[in-house]
Amino acid sequence: MPIKYHWITLGPGAVSGLIASGLCDNGESVSVLSRHNRAATIEWQLVRAHEKRNYKVPATQLPIPKNSVFIVAVKAFDVISALQHITALEGFDKSMPIVLSHNGMVELPKALKQLNLHPMVTTHGAVKSKNENGIIRIEHRGTGRSWLEVRQEEPEPWSTLQQAFPPLVLEQNTSQRRWLKLIINCVINPLTAIYKCENGKLLEDKWQSQIVSLVNEAVAVAETQNVVLDAKMCHREVLRVAQETALNSSSMLQDIKQQRHTEIEQLTGYLIKTGESADVATPTHQQLLNEFQKRYG
Ligand SMILES: NC(=O)c1ccc[n+]([C@@H]2O[C@H](COP(=O)([O-])OP(=O)(O)OC[C@H]3O[C@@H](n4cnc5c(N)ncnc54)[C@H](OP(=O)(O)O)[C@@H]3O)[C@@H](O)[C@H]2O)c1
Repeated sequence: MPIKYHWITLGPGAVSGLIASGLCDNGESVSVLSRHNRAATIEWQLVRAHEKRNYKVPATQLPIPKNSVFIVAVKAFDVISALQHITALEGFDKSMPIVLSHNGMVELPKALKQLNLHPMVTTHGAVKSKNENGIIRIEHRGTGRSWLEVRQEEPEPWSTLQQAFPPLVLEQNTSQRRWLKLIINCVINPLTAIYKCENGKLLEDKWQSQIVSLVNEAVAVAETQNVVLDAKMCHREVLRVAQETALNSSSMLQDIKQQRHTEIEQLTGYLIKTGESADVATPTHQQLLNEFQKRYG
């Protein structure tokens, strides 16, 4: 008999809501851990193309079940508090798997590094809002793919997650993917937020020398972390993402427009700090950060 897992999803936010919906569709046991909502059940609506589906699951009960697996897809600035929240739950055990998905990079305190963390990179696009009845609405705007870091010897619970959130590739090391995503985000997010433009604008010639400098500096910083990336490939990837999402506003521009906290510190800020501690200069990123702070504080 395969082990049945209990999936605890935080939020639900845009990404964790997509995953929770897939798990529910597959008949998995799911609960939601919310930091504000004290209701006994949590509802959301998933909107995809012409389809709307409603979901209702119990709020996470204490003590949490021994077979719990966590889905932590939170903004980068909430990662540490979210992990601390989990570790304080009655019944929590350090061996419980935690899927951790966020943009940017976060330096975790030592105690949290020892958790059973599984970084996940995703290129899905989803937006969370409230519908006309005040219920969480998660709109799946762009189908993407995901990569999850696992150890070779553990097929479960990951095959269950692969069915619920496809396509999901299991890899033993996602560092290169996470750095490539960091580099793409460190170009597209601050530029589009500062100049208040859609992603496709960055394909214009006038941006290319700045983009090349941003990519080259970031690739040099990645190398200090033992991640070797080809700068030309990274530049092509930046342009590919800008092309594929040409009409979209980046998440940082959306955050700015809605006066929400941005992930600039865990993106550009992280890159600059990591460069500084390895004596790698990042003047173009610094200039971008200065401009961002001048405009938005
Ligand atoms: N959305 C996308 O398309 C997408 C794609 C790729 C990568 N990403 C990245 O993935 C990460 C998550 O993005 P998202 O768009 O899913 O964010 P989101 O919609 O803001 O969802 C985050 C959820 O986590 C919840 N949360 C945070 N701390 C918590 C805690 N301690 N306990 C319980 N719940 C907690 C938030 O609760 P509240 O409701 O209380 O704030 C929110 O519901 C970000 O780093 C983002 O850049 C997003």
